[in-house]
Amino acid sequence: MTDLRGRWALVTGASSGLGVDFARELAGRGCPVVLVARREERLRQLAAELEAAHGVATHVLALDLADRHAPRTLHERLRADGIAVDVLVNNAGFGVFGPFLEIDWERERQMLELDVLAVVELTKRFATDMAERRAGWILQVASIGAFQPTPTYATYAAAKSFVLSFSDAIAHELRPYGVHVCTVCPGVTATEFLTVAGQRPTLYQRLMMMQSPAVARSAVRALLRGRTSVVPGVGNALSAFSMRLMPRGIQATIAKAAMSGGGSGPT
Ligand SMILES: NC(=O)c1ccc[n+]([C@@H]2O[C@H](COP(=O)([O-])OP(=O)(O)OC[C@H]3O[C@@H](n4cnc5c(N)ncnc54)[C@H](OP(=O)(O)O)[C@@H]3O)[C@@H](O)[C@H]2O)c1
Repeated sequence: MTDLRGRWALVTGASSGLGVDFARELAGRGCPVVLVARREERLRQLAAELEAAHGVATHVLALDLADRHAPRTLHERLRADGIAVDVLVNNAGFGVFGPFLEIDWERERQMLELDVLAVVELTKRFATDMAERRAGWILQVASIGAFQPTPTYATYAAAKSFVLSFSDAIAHELRPYGVHVCTVCPGVTATEFLTVAGQRPTLYQRLMMMQSPAVARSAVRALLRGRTSVVPGVGNALSAFSMRLMPRGIQATIAKAAMSGGGSGPT
């Protein structure tokens, strides 16, 4: 497996959930890490933990990546600080649960800014630097929702389908430049995701729920083994595979059933 010791990793959404565990996983492999999210105090606590546990350097940047100027600001600040990012983890993201006609457009627009536009811009900016250096690793965080149209998460699941399709395509384009792209498609994972999305977990979600450290470990291993995608967890992998064999109308019906029964509100 690839040795990343001493290579700077940038983890977006590192104040909670999977981002914390991606940062721990990479720091444990000897990467100095840049931690980005809006909640600065949490980032600073994690930075202190990683420095103490793994002896790696850290760099904290509090940014709202749904702001259309933020990806450029992030790239320029790191360049000014002399940090060359070799490992990019595009993890920051959120979902909005509910009937499409009832979801507030402004919230949905912010979600698309973060889950789609920021991912593409950060990838373009940092992949360009990596291609010049002929080395780089990019981990994109999609979702198992990328494999099927999902009523009540219509826009979120479509955004994650975009991330998966986009990333599979650039994995081919960037390979000759020595830049590896891998997309992780987690199933439901115990993080703040459902609370932020405004959904109480359904029975299906409770049964399928994975722990965040296991998902992060599986994703980083897949990246370092040169895989282009991974669905952590046997049940999730089977579900994603079986979805590919079904007509899209049936996929949507099954996804709707899996999302029903929990209701909206605090988890
Ligand atoms: N948990 C699941 O079931 C699941 C399943 C499939 C895919 N995913 C994906 O996994 C990724 C991580 O989510 P999670 O499950 O770890 O959820 P989480 O615990 O809610 O973490 C989301 C992270 O994204 C950051 N973030 C949100 N809005 C941001 C903004 N505008 N600017 C910068 N950072 C922002 C949050 O930090 P701040 O609030 O401090 O900014 C937080 O660090 C997301 O892309 C999500 O779509 C999650």
